Amino acid sequence: MQEWTLLCAPARSKYRLNQIFLRDHIVWWFTLDLAMKKKTILVTAASRGLGFSVAQSLVKEGATVIICSRTEKSLQEAVESLGPSSKYVIADVSKPEDILTLVEQVSDSTSHLDGLFVNAGGPPPGEFSDISDSEWRESFELTLMSAVRLTREFLPLLKKSKDASILYSTSISVKQPIPNLLLSNALRPAVIGMMRTLADEIGPDGIRVNAICPGYIQTDRVTQLFEASTDSSLKANLISQIPLGRIGSPNEFGAVCTFLLSPIASYIHGALLLVDGGLYRGMM
Ligand SMILES: NC(=O)c1ccc[n+]([C@@H]2O[C@H](COP(=O)([O-])OP(=O)(O)OC[C@H]3O[C@@H](n4cnc5c(N)ncnc54)[C@H](OP(=O)(O)O)[C@@H]3O)[C@@H](O)[C@H]2O)c1
Repeated sequence: MQEWTLLCAPARSKYRLNQIFLRDHIVWWFTLDLAMKKKTILVTAASRGLGFSVAQSLVKEGATVIICSRTEKSLQEAVESLGPSSKYVIADVSKPEDILTLVEQVSDSTSHLDGLFVNAGGPPPGEFSDISDSEWRESFELTLMSAVRLTREFLPLLKKSKDASILYSTSISVKQPIPNLLLSNALRPAVIGMMRTLADEIGPDGIRVNAICPGYIQTDRVTQLFEASTDSSLKANLISQIPLGRIGSPNEFGAVCTFLLSPIASYIHGALLLVDGGLYRGMM
């Protein structure tokens, strides 16, 4: 089977004409062209899981990606799997000094940034009575201040792009609290408050901001969550509450994020989108 893609002129056209030879048949079909070629996107916390799925989907659409996380070995493996249009920087997004290093290294490799996917590790689980002041402070740095600093430090590079976009990865917890995840329930809504305010403040500069809110997506973190639980019916109970009847796949999450970061989503600004198989039941 041989496959190639014909791009409809002009370069920013919205559809690709695809052709496959399948034995003695020729199959033609159109796919949406997300116009991501020549775009450079920074995806944080992306050696595994949701961030990696976003990087994979962006590369598939022709973008160049820069990923970061704390562990060099997993970053090397990720970049090996993503291919030549990817590079990595070691950075812990909860540390201000690491964000400055990240800015320096990204600025050395690109004159502008077309997209920023803001992601970090999750805050630890726990109920109100379990959580100490130091855990509150660490989670504040990890969940809110990482988003604040990444936005502040990368705005100059984003302003140099014609189609810049920031996408904050949060959680369904911004719409309804998740039991035993108080820190996520309390701190992630602050990211949404910042995003909605930035929509007014940096929209006039042509920079779009949006948030994506995953429900349950099958990453290592979610697998570990089920394995660590003493409740053997946890997964089945959860799935029974999801109208689509399954946990989401990382590819499904990555594809939606790539769309939101792409110029095709050029009039989506200040929005919050759930990727949860219908788990959230609220009407707003
Ligand atoms: N998966 C879901 O269904 C789901 C749903 C709602 C919300 N979320 C949230 O989405 C985020 C990602 O979840 P995931 O499922 O993709 O987790 P994951 O599979 O554990 O992957 C986490 C990734 O983030 C990196 N990372 C962790 N802490 C970091 C830090 N401080 N600085 C830089 N990189 C860091 C990890 O690499 P290193 O460890 O090497 O740094 C890894 O690449 C978490 O905040 C999680 O709470 C996930």
